[in-house]
Amino acid sequence: MKVVEEQDRVRVMEGSWDVWGAIQEIVDTGTQEDPFYVMDLGEVIARYNKWKELLPRVEPFYAVKCNDDKLLVTALAALGAGFDCASKAEIELVSNIGVRPERIIFANPAKMASHIRHAAAAGVSTMTFDSETELLKIKQLMPNAKLVIRIRCDAAEAQCPLGIKFGCDPASEAPRLLKLAAVLQLDVVGVSFHVGSGARDFAVYAQAIQFARALFDLGGCVGHRGMRLLDIGGGFPGHSGSDLTEVAAIINAALAKHFPDPSVQVIAEPGRYFAAAAYTLAVMVHAKREIIPKESSGESHTMYFVNDGVYGSFNCVLYDHQVVHAEPLKTYPGSKPLPCSIWGPSCDGLDLVCGAARLPPLCAGDWLVFRDMGAYTLPVASAFNGFPLPRVRALLDHRHAKLLKDLWPLTEAHFMYGAPLTGPQLPEAATPAAVAAAAAAPRRVRRVRAQVTTSRVLRGETMGIDLHRLREL
Ligand SMILES: Cc1ncc(COP(=O)(O)O)c(C=O)c1O
Repeated sequence: MKVVEEQDRVRVMEGSWDVWGAIQEIVDTGTQEDPFYVMDLGEVIARYNKWKELLPRVEPFYAVKCNDDKLLVTALAALGAGFDCASKAEIELVSNIGVRPERIIFANPAKMASHIRHAAAAGVSTMTFDSETELLKIKQLMPNAKLVIRIRCDAAEAQCPLGIKFGCDPASEAPRLLKLAAVLQLDVVGVSFHVGSGARDFAVYAQAIQFARALFDLGGCVGHRGMRLLDIGGGFPGHSGSDLTEVAAIINAALAKHFPDPSVQVIAEPGRYFAAAAYTLAVMVHAKREIIPKESSGESHTMYFVNDGVYGSFNCVLYDHQVVHAEPLKTYPGSKPLPCSIWGPSCDGLDLVCGAARLPPLCAGDWLVFRDMGAYTLPVASAFNGFPLPRVRALLDHRHAKLLKDLWPLTEAHFMYGAPLTGPQLPEAATPAAVAAAAAAPRRVRRVRAQVTTSRVLRGETMGIDLHRLREL
């Protein structure tokens, strides 16, 4: 039996629970000082089921780049998803989980030679291209590859446009590339596109599917008689409460019109759609500064410093153009939200998480929560300045666990029943029982005590001072 690492396991939650309550429970131990994620695996299952209901013809091939959390990838494999991998390491990750190579598309149109060799050795033969150079490279390294031409068709508005980097023009470049591939006796099996990540204009999918149809027809004429794969890429909405209904209706209508033949396999490469809403991040305020306006008419402003920043999870603010929203974990009855900004822990002035927020007056030791933090956050994060990356604590309702537990490649070992939220991934709580149990290991006890003391110090408890009241002076 494969060993399942602690971080790849999910806690099965009995009774009624929610993510907010779970965060509160972890924070209430008083020993948690590092930022952490709570991942609700049930959200991923719900989204997978919604996809199957609304886009029955389109097989999701999850874009691993979006969040390569092994538990997420394993759960999606168990549900039946395929995978879009962009590199050797991503192919390795997915293959090691046990996913068959036919369920992987190497969807990077500009691949390194060693990565193509790795794909060939792993049996991953379906890959994208958008240039002559890539065709020549593949001809030398993997002449039996099944090629998918990536065309450009951009949404009018997208959080992260991708067309500026990838995709050949469907009218002026693609026909020549299809002919060149035929001359090189390479096998082009399909067409792919990506309208842009976080697309806000869904009509563009219909336009792109129409372009793909024209290229299927042209491909057939120049010798690619086996074209049978349409890959409609990513771009699907992922934030909590987002809805697939509108985009699904547009795609289904375009498929019915342009690809009525059911023998054409249709896949998509959703990333954000599966990952974003499942991960909620909790960060702690560890310092603050009041900025007093120079002019009497100016508004005062508080700078809050939290333990994760743009070099960690909030890199998404810079690279993924995300606008993040902070919510205080606890309620502050009677407190008015006041102007503030939220800064990361590093010594860099660029480390600004949120420049203009409004929050009730917070103290060091208070926690903030950010929803929808699962897409393009952790895989990009670094431990710059020595600040640890947040750990992920995965939770799953017991009813969902029943459905998932027999689905390979998940195994019994992936599920933890009756495990406390403050289990092995967190420092032990300094309960009298824990302290007594650790009596034989005095150094460890000291560490537990030190952690408790630190969070109490941040809240001013060890001085007997109510910092909230002090602030009002
Ligand atoms: C080739 C490719 N496919 C899929 C995705 C995932 O896109 P999204 O997260 O918008 O679904 C990306 C994102 O960059 C991509 O480059």
